[in-house]
Amino acid sequence: MTVIELSFEQAMLVLDKALQKKHLSNIQEMVLRLCWSGYTYAEIAESSGYDDDYIRDVGFRLWQMLSKALGENIAKSNVKTVLRRHYSSLKQVDSQVSTIAAFPTPKIQQQQDWGEAIDVSVFYGRQKEQELLQRWIIDEKCRLLMLLGMGGIGKTALSVKVAEKLQSKFDFVFWRSLRNSPAISDLMRELISFVSQQSAASLPENLDVQISYLMKYLRSRRCLILLDNIESLLQSGETSGHYCTGYEGYGQLLRRIGDEVHQSCLVFTTRETPSGFTAREGDALPVRSLQLTGLSAVESQQILATKGLVDSTDECQQLIQRYAGNPLALKIVATTIQHLFDGNICQFLQQGSVIFGDIWEILEQQFNRLSANEKQVMYSLAVKQDWVSLQHLQQYVIPQISERELLEALFSLQRRSLIEQRSASYTQPTVVMEYVSENLIGKVCCEIPTAENYSLA
Ligand SMILES: Nc1ncnc2c1ncn2[C@@H]1O[C@H](COP(=O)(O)OP(=O)(O)OP(=O)(O)O)[C@@H](O)[C@H]1O
Ligand SMILES: [Mg+2]
Repeated sequence: MTVIELSFEQAMLVLDKALQKKHLSNIQEMVLRLCWSGYTYAEIAESSGYDDDYIRDVGFRLWQMLSKALGENIAKSNVKTVLRRHYSSLKQVDSQVSTIAAFPTPKIQQQQDWGEAIDVSVFYGRQKEQELLQRWIIDEKCRLLMLLGMGGIGKTALSVKVAEKLQSKFDFVFWRSLRNSPAISDLMRELISFVSQQSAASLPENLDVQISYLMKYLRSRRCLILLDNIESLLQSGETSGHYCTGYEGYGQLLRRIGDEVHQSCLVFTTRETPSGFTAREGDALPVRSLQLTGLSAVESQQILATKGLVDSTDECQQLIQRYAGNPLALKIVATTIQHLFDGNICQFLQQGSVIFGDIWEILEQQFNRLSANEKQVMYSLAVKQDWVSLQHLQQYVIPQISERELLEALFSLQRRSLIEQRSASYTQPTVVMEYVSENLIGKVCCEIPTAENYSLA
């Protein structure tokens, strides 16, 4: 007979059922989790900051409570064996999801905390994206979703729109911006006190234990958590995607929410993919990503019209194409055309420069975060001003980096929406190309030793 290895989450399902209306307190669950992982009472006391005797007492009462609920003697030494046996005898072991569904959920009053979520009462298009996200979140019960795209493309707006649409399907909705890089402990405190509907002032120090508390609620309640601007927590340059020092805990949180069985969903927006995500995502997995591109011509025209720029001429189409349907860029440019060009798109296009103010700033922020190899690829593509094949890039333009490094750089740039791909050829969106060209003019003499390569290629 094969002995199944019971995970802690599966053990908790057994206990949730056995304890019925009662439930473990936070400290009891922490002690159980750490005992489960093989910690001694002394180690638990040390890692949680509680007194040794207190932890022993919690342990003693915990075993008593579990013995009573399961009708047999349970102690630290046999808890795994007993719970494994009870788990096997549960009738609905065929699917973890149906097991969760079989547990009675107490009626919970719906709660929402929208933080500083933006107003999306004026919102155009993105119908396909909304339907896809709804299918992933509601029908396919995905646990972790990434909305990826360049600055201003509409990630935040879409996340709020979808959350508003799906709010009635969730017991708890929690939306937070991470733009100011809050410490993970602050976020956990807010999040746990929100989903538990009680003050989390006495949370233990250990982050893993805090996440375990949260997971308990994510299993028993349906929560929709939205975290905006994850890129604010990530390092730039060669180590892009890695969390900044002190923020690695966010990676731990995302990992556990993606990996463990529960009935909630965390959606995050970001300009670049955090490390550890790509290995987890997949079309048939509960962890997925959606890369946002620009709005359609019609939707872009609607954005221009909100700024009083109503036009359907070829020049207007040209304008939309230049900014690749980026709603933020279109809003900024429409305001500029209104104020400085008296609403005349043609005159604006003739004056040449398409990048200024906030548009320049966003591109600069994104560009400064690139690794040296990514910058080289960007300069090369800007010089070519056209589609360039992978083979051409490799053989003539940047032969000094290996094929693996080149592919990595291209993949990363694509994920940042800074380049476009067609079969095995690459180019840049116009606005990006113009930014890089201007940037290149400023730097060509001093920063790029291989500049002749570009002009020869
Ligand atoms: N579909 C849309 N309809 C109307 N306005 C939109 C739409 N999408 C985005 N916007 C507007 O465009 C601007 C930029 O959008 P948003 O802030 O969502 O971009 P973002 O991708 O989150 O950018 P960042 O990476 O800087 O956070 C906002 O003013 C937003 O309201
Ligand atoms: Mg945003």
